[in-house]
Amino acid sequence: LTGRRPPPEHGTVSVIENRPVAADTFRLSLAAPGFAADALPGQFFMVSFPAVLDPLLPRPFAAFDREGGRLEILVRKAGRGTGLLAEIRPPAKLELFGPLGRGYRTELPPAARALVIAGGIGFASVHMLVKRLLRGGHPVTLLYGARAAEQIVPLDPDLGAHPGLDLRVATEDGGTGFRGHVLGMYRSLLDRAPDFGARHAGAFVCGPVPMLRAFAQALGAQGPPAQFSLEAHMACGYGVCQGCAVPAAGRAGTRDAPGYRRVCADGPVFRLDEVDWEALR
Ligand SMILES: Cc1cc2nc3c(=O)[nH]c(=O)nc-3n(C[C@H](O)[C@H](O)[C@H](O)COP(=O)(O)OP(=O)(O)OC[C@H]3O[C@@H](n4cnc5c(N)ncnc54)[C@H](O)[C@@H]3O)c2cc1C
Ligand code: FES
Repeated sequence: LTGRRPPPEHGTVSVIENRPVAADTFRLSLAAPGFAADALPGQFFMVSFPAVLDPLLPRPFAAFDREGGRLEILVRKAGRGTGLLAEIRPPAKLELFGPLGRGYRTELPPAARALVIAGGIGFASVHMLVKRLLRGGHPVTLLYGARAAEQIVPLDPDLGAHPGLDLRVATEDGGTGFRGHVLGMYRSLLDRAPDFGARHAGAFVCGPVPMLRAFAQALGAQGPPAQFSLEAHMACGYGVCQGCAVPAAGRAGTRDAPGYRRVCADGPVFRLDEVDWEALR
């Protein structure tokens, strides 16, 4: 995957609003004019706290939405850094570096349908993508899975009501939608309509590694061309520390990381054939 990438910037931004939207999940709006104008679907930002030593390293977050000079990220509490972000309120400041990485390639044949699959907080990475695809005249099937209904992040009313969007939700506890994993929902759709995958010109997937591995197998066998957004522990976020390396398919890798691909710089979005899914931990 190549594609246009705006140069990353570094700067201090102000918190406008921090809204709880699902269990342990917050929609954090930032006054970030320069950053908001450039972020592409699937790209991410490194976020850090001025004058805070724990956590010392910045944390990566997908660009969730952007409108005018406002940039939004979706934060799910996982540890110290995300815990602080959950509690942050206006007019606090944050340090931002980005946009970083290679986002989703959204070129599809005119009016072609896209299949977007999100698991858990992976929804953060595909939100802007779904909006861009719909704006570009592409109908979207969105398969969105979570453990429980209270973890599902509601769509903005205009997005949820968009005539081009076919949203299907799966929850593992059966609280809403299909009872089971999002992969189970995909399989049941295939059982009912064997050409379900083929109705889509491209697939875009983001979620935890076991889910990505399972979809890499499922889509590789009988799905449309697929792109996957990976998560990894990151220290620098721009290709220097090698801390985010994942095994490359065929051990090809890149010039800078032979045998591996760096999630931050070579991804986070990869094609199916770029990653060794079996070796991925
Ligand atoms: C490209 C990218 C985009 C991301 N986008 C989002 C997003 O939009 N919203 C969101 O809530 N989270 C996102 N994440 C995950 C987020 O960065 C981590 O949850 C966060 O760094 C954890 O920091 P912490 O200090 O709260 O947790 P820590 O105290 O450092 O760790 C707590 C737990 O989180 C796990 N963890 C730590 N870092 C990561 C990581 N990078 N990926 C996965 N698990 C991790 C640890 O293994 C541990 O189990 C993204 C990660 C990447 C790589
Ligand atoms: S986080 Fe440093 S190389 Fe990717």
